[in-house]
Amino acid sequence: IQAQNKVTFRTDAPTQTINKNIYGHFAEHLGNCIYGGFYVGDTSSIPNTNGVRNDIIAALRKLKIPNLRWPGGCFADTYHWKDGIGPKDKRPTIVNTWWGNVTENNSFGTHDFLNMCEVLGAEPYLAGNVGSGTAQELSDWVQYVNFPGKSPMSDLRQENGRKEPWKVRYWGVGNEAWGCGGNMRPEYYADIYRKYSTFMSGPLFKIASGANSSDYNWTEVLMKNIPGHMLDGMALHHYAVIDWNKKGDAVDFSEEQYFQTMSSACFMDTLVRKHSAIMDKYDPKKKVALVVDEWGGWYNVQAGTNPGFLFQQNTMRDAMIAGVTLNIFNNHSDRVRIANLAQTINVLQAVIFTNKEQIILTPTYHVMEMYNVHQDATLIPIDIQSNDYTFGKSKLPAITASASKDKAGVTHISLVNIDAGKSQELSINTQDAYKTVNGRILTSTKLQDHNSVSQPDKIKPVAFNGAVLKNNTLTVKLPPFSVVVLELK
Ligand code: AHR
Repeated sequence: IQAQNKVTFRTDAPTQTINKNIYGHFAEHLGNCIYGGFYVGDTSSIPNTNGVRNDIIAALRKLKIPNLRWPGGCFADTYHWKDGIGPKDKRPTIVNTWWGNVTENNSFGTHDFLNMCEVLGAEPYLAGNVGSGTAQELSDWVQYVNFPGKSPMSDLRQENGRKEPWKVRYWGVGNEAWGCGGNMRPEYYADIYRKYSTFMSGPLFKIASGANSSDYNWTEVLMKNIPGHMLDGMALHHYAVIDWNKKGDAVDFSEEQYFQTMSSACFMDTLVRKHSAIMDKYDPKKKVALVVDEWGGWYNVQAGTNPGFLFQQNTMRDAMIAGVTLNIFNNHSDRVRIANLAQTINVLQAVIFTNKEQIILTPTYHVMEMYNVHQDATLIPIDIQSNDYTFGKSKLPAITASASKDKAGVTHISLVNIDAGKSQELSINTQDAYKTVNGRILTSTKLQDHNSVSQPDKIKPVAFNGAVLKNNTLTVKLPPFSVVVLELK
């Protein structure tokens, strides 16, 4: 055991609220995320509310899901919202060309999604079709869901059974415009953004399709060419991936592959700093949010499943990705104010799997649930000194952390030790004296461990007794690959 790890609460540094929307999720028409995941239809024998599984609703409410992005992803730029309203038996079909070429019946559409968000207590985040849709179509969608008075689209909404508008605030103007959203150059997309957003009547929170990982030029060109008053959020997508051509198995991975995944996950810190620095040049008051609306681990699809459905198992490695990434977002919450894990159910780094009547909460679910104490709390800036987690000649900081004080005055600190083999002891100087410490831990015997149909609760948080409080100093011993959240009073 090494003992050089130190966390110091800073009382001198400026602070801010950790926007709860950092804990957002993403639901695309992809594989079994919507159909068979959220939505089973109202004739299903699985208990449901207007076709949405009740067990999913309960699990996501417990997570305090703050916002949900829909309908894509790449699917968004193929989606024509008018095909998903009105009587279900009259809706046309759509072929999901990005994800398995399956034919969908459009039975889950705008009303289904927005009503579901109300039930979940989550704010909807709609991604508009810019790649293959018109400015008129997007403008009509805004009027359909948001206009309170009389208009062609709000009349149509009322005919379809919804009197009051849903007041959707968050709107994406396309998705991955540099790729599946139209293979555009940033200069061209900046103009397209200006055009489409002009016809989206507000007030709205408009989010530009942002950079692919370290494409800093994309952010630079957009910030330069889109006037500040037209822009509220700048997106960024980054997946923790080993190599896009050799992503590796989701369960059967070596320590080397684990280390590579964690390098990619930790790189989020560099990405946030560098994209933020570019944004600072054009927007020093940080009016525009950095919106990391796709993040998470991406591996090979599980053998025997449809390659277009992106189904992968979720292990302790994924819990590490979640813990590290959320600490990064909390610590950069001055600029990162919305983020969306990809994707909620049965796809990529899912928080829930469905198996007929059963749902399985993944290790990632448990991390998101443990961390939800930070939602809308005040960040406590920290200094951190960490031992290295080394693999061969490469190294990463073993420990990451973030801390906040909630509205009731309770302090929480989330700690992650990514080291695959070593416990880490750390001391935390809390500046203020606290009387009690309580906590929960998520860990397991092997990094490859996961929850399954036969062992749905193999990995779940349990009480943590490894923290000792003495005056202003907390001493904590973190087992290998563990996530701990402490509550200080
Ligand atoms: O999340 C899966 C896909 O990843 C999304 O559809 C796309 O935006 C990204 O490339």
